[in-house]
Amino acid sequence: MEVRAEKPEDVEAIRQINMAAFGREDEANLVDQLRGVSSTLSFVAVESGHVVGHVFFSPVAIAGKCPDNLLVLGLAPVAVLPGYQRQGIGALLIQQSLEECSRLGCKAVVVLGHPEYYPRFGFISAKEKRLKCEYPIPNEAFMVLELEPDALENCVGTVKYRSEFDQLE
Ligand SMILES: CC(C)(COP(=O)(O)OP(=O)(O)OC[C@H]1O[C@@H](n2cnc3c(N)ncnc32)[C@H](O)[C@@H]1OP(=O)(O)O)[C@@H](O)C(=O)NCCC(=O)NCCS
Repeated sequence: MEVRAEKPEDVEAIRQINMAAFGREDEANLVDQLRGVSSTLSFVAVESGHVVGHVFFSPVAIAGKCPDNLLVLGLAPVAVLPGYQRQGIGALLIQQSLEECSRLGCKAVVVLGHPEYYPRFGFISAKEKRLKCEYPIPNEAFMVLELEPDALENCVGTVKYRSEFDQLE
């Protein structure tokens, strides 16, 4: 399996993966809206020539205190085609895309998701890094990964996703 940056010809496959994995259009629409926005990153997992997984990253702001030039990305959404789930594709996609984010200058990544899944990639509770989520969610569901040691040392506050996320339930 290969993980690579999204190409223009992947757009429809990415839509289909998100709709199939989430069982609705919202995440696919969100990706279509955010694609091309500055500092967003999009990666696909390719198995035998077929795009079977997708992960998207978009910049978040920290309302509070944080150096302006510190690039922090939010990982969302991530999706693997239902027939290909639980084979390690999601893990490889997330792991390799995080390495690429780091290589491209991102210092930390936040994720809103299942607390049993993301710690395997090094994510810890965002609360431990003095960050909270703007949405009313359980603390443990909001996690952060520093891609550089102590990258968030001078940050404290509320993490704000781009306004396009407000339409997701
Ligand atoms: C989440 C997702 C991307 C993982 O992809 P995957 O290829 O199945 O992941 P992997 O095979 O690497 O890992 C499977 C692990 O993820 C866990 N997992 C998968 N979906 C999960 C979920 N919704 N809740 C909790 N754990 C989940 C499984 O328990 C499994 O853990 P295990 O290895 O301890 O058994 C995929 O299941 C998916 O597309 N789900 C629907 C969309 C979604 O909920 N995305 C995440 C929110 S943005």
